[in-house]
Amino acid sequence: MKQTVLLSKPYSRMSMKRVVTVLILCSAAQIQSASTKNEAKYPRFKRSCYRNMPNLELDSCLKSNFQQNLPSYRSAGIPGMINGSIDPYTWPRFYHYFGGALIQGSLTVLNAKMWGWSTLKFLNVRTNVKNPQKMLIDVDFRVPKIDVFGQFKAEGKMGAARVYGGGPFWLNVTGVSGTWKVIGSREKGAPYMEIKSFRGNPILRLETFKLKAPGAALGNQQLSNLVVATINGAWRIFQEVADPAIEREWGNFCKDSLNRVFKSVPYDELFPLDRTPARNTSSRNSASRIF
Ligand SMILES: *[C@@H]1O[C@H](CO)[C@@H](O)[C@H](O)[C@H]1NC(C)=O
Ligand SMILES: *[C@@H]1O[C@H](CO)[C@@H](O)[C@H](O)[C@H]1NC(C)=O
Ligand SMILES: *[C@@H]1O[C@H](CO)[C@@H](O)[C@H](O)[C@H]1NC(C)=O
Repeated sequence: MKQTVLLSKPYSRMSMKRVVTVLILCSAAQIQSASTKNEAKYPRFKRSCYRNMPNLELDSCLKSNFQQNLPSYRSAGIPGMINGSIDPYTWPRFYHYFGGALIQGSLTVLNAKMWGWSTLKFLNVRTNVKNPQKMLIDVDFRVPKIDVFGQFKAEGKMGAARVYGGGPFWLNVTGVSGTWKVIGSREKGAPYMEIKSFRGNPILRLETFKLKAPGAALGNQQLSNLVVATINGAWRIFQEVADPAIEREWGNFCKDSLNRVFKSVPYDELFPLDRTPARNTSSRNSASRIF
C-alpha cells in the first residue's frame, strides 16, 4: 500500500505524450517529461516507452528511441549527461599500469579524440524492469568504424626490452561491437534509481585494428616501428591486456554520466510505469505537447 502511494504520486505530475529517454554512448534511460523547466535535464524522445509494456514492445520502443535521437546528440551532446560533441568525442585522460607477464609498464593517453560514435547502431535492447527496485538494461551495439587521434606517454618492458615512448598516435578500428550491461538499483520507497554498474568494453569485438605511433620507442625509430608492427600484428593480445582498464574507465565514465540524470530525476518520471494517465490531470499536463 505504501508502495502504491509512493509510485503513483509522480504520475500525477507527468505529462502524457511527451517522452524522453536517455542514453547513448552509454546506454539508456527512459523519460517522460514533467514540465518545461526540466527541458534540458535529460533527453526527450518522440515515443513513450513504459515499464509495464510487454517486454518485446518495450525493448523495441527503447531501441528505436535511442536510434532516432542519436543524430541530434552528435554536436549538441546528450542533455544532462554529456556537454558538447559526442562525435568527435574527446576523452581527456586515460591511465593504466599494466602488470602482466607479457608487458609491464604504464600507459597514459591524453585528449584522445574519437570519431564515429554517432554512426552507432543499436542492434538489440533487452530490459528487465519488472522489479521497481531494479533496472537491468542490455544494449547490443555496432559501430562500423572509429578513428582516434591523441597523445600518449608510455613506459614499459616488453620481454627484455625497456621502452619509453610518447607523442601523437592514430588508431583506426572497424567493426566495433559489443554489449553494454547497465544495472540500476533503488532503495524501497526512494525516488531515484541509482546506476550501480555499467559494464561492457566499448571495443569488445573489433574486426580490424591499425595503430600509428611514431614515438612508440623514443630515440629509436627502428624499435618504434617494431613495437607498432608487433602491436598491429598481435592486437588481439594487446587488446586483452588493455581490456580490463578500458572497461573500468569507460564503465565508470558511463555510470557517472547516467547518474547525472538518474540521481537527479525521479525514476518514475524518467521511466514511467504505465501509460494510464493520472486520474488527477493537472493544468501542466494539459500543456504537454507531442514533438
Ligand atoms: C554541463 O554544463 C552545465 C552548465 O554549464 C554544468 O552545470 C554541468 O555540470 C556540465 N555537465 C558536465 C557533464 O560537464
Ligand atoms: C585513421 O584515423 C585518423 C585519425 O586518427 C584519420 O585522420 C585517418 O583518416 C584514419 N585513416 C583511415 C584509413 O580511416
Ligand atoms: C488532485 O490534485 C489535487 C491538487 O493537487 C489534490 O488536492 C487532490 O487530492 C488530488 N486528487 C486525487 C484523486 O489524487
